[in-house]
Amino acid sequence: MKQFISVEDVPGVPQIADIALDYKKNPFKDKGLGENKTLGMIFLNPSLRTRLSTQVAARNLGMEVVVFNIDKEGWALEMNDGVVMNGSTTEHVKEAAAVMGQYFDIMAIRTFPGLKDKEEDYTEKYINQFIKYAGKPIVSLESATLHPLQSLTDVITIRERWNQPRKPKVVMTWAPHVRALPQAVPNSFAQWMNAWGEVDFVITHPEGYELDPKFSGKAPIIHNQKEALEGADFVYVKNWSSYKDYGKITCTDQSWMVTNETLKDTNNASVMHCLPVRRNVVIADEVLDGPQSIVIQEAGNRTWAAQAVLSEILKAR
Ligand code: CP
Repeated sequence: MKQFISVEDVPGVPQIADIALDYKKNPFKDKGLGENKTLGMIFLNPSLRTRLSTQVAARNLGMEVVVFNIDKEGWALEMNDGVVMNGSTTEHVKEAAAVMGQYFDIMAIRTFPGLKDKEEDYTEKYINQFIKYAGKPIVSLESATLHPLQSLTDVITIRERWNQPRKPKVVMTWAPHVRALPQAVPNSFAQWMNAWGEVDFVITHPEGYELDPKFSGKAPIIHNQKEALEGADFVYVKNWSSYKDYGKITCTDQSWMVTNETLKDTNNASVMHCLPVRRNVVIADEVLDGPQSIVIQEAGNRTWAAQAVLSEILKAR
């Protein structure tokens, strides 16, 4: 694998999921693979799970890890080519990425969208500039529009919990939030569920919250949450801001919050969320603290997803 930006980079969803689940059973079996290799983790935005699980994954493979909070500790980066840098930016990504590429064997980047300019966000300017100038394999730790490490984690979490011959019904439901959030997690989850194909995947959200069809694909979209959740085996809860009315909150209907009542007509569904989650806004305490929540198991699986990705890139070098 040359890079990890989206599902299109993996050899196959079941294949990479198997590699991840194998690492869960044997975390240190490839301890020598990353010997004398260094992973540089570059953060332009905050993180708990992605940062910690990816570091653990890299160390399980014998890699050294350097974490750089470039937004707080680095020079202000200029991302646009051809500009006169007489404003607030100090260093161009051309030099910054190329220099970091001298120090690291693999570079992992986290960037968020501005949620102001759809075109700028959806062309993935930030991560693409690192791909262009670093000269080393790039791993997305979440970009403006996708969060593939989270989605691979979600695949392996569903895969390890589901042991029936029929396909599970997986419903991704929008839920309210007080802030405008990126579409990266739902875009990516939809992209991976569609590419995997081993689930019956349904999306439910209020009207106006349609995702970019490039990611939602042919998944049925049902605007009635109760109807969509009937018989669900997995409920994937996530807020996102509007793609159509870009970056805006156009619905504040609290009835979309996931409670025990919301889950009543599911098949005793397992409840997933990428975290962090705002309790009693997105998901009620009674669900997060109850037996249907698998959010901690899901977050734990972040390590194995990251280890599978890093190992595949190391093997290809
Ligand atoms: N789910 C996720 O990416 O968590 P962090 O933002 O804490 O890394």
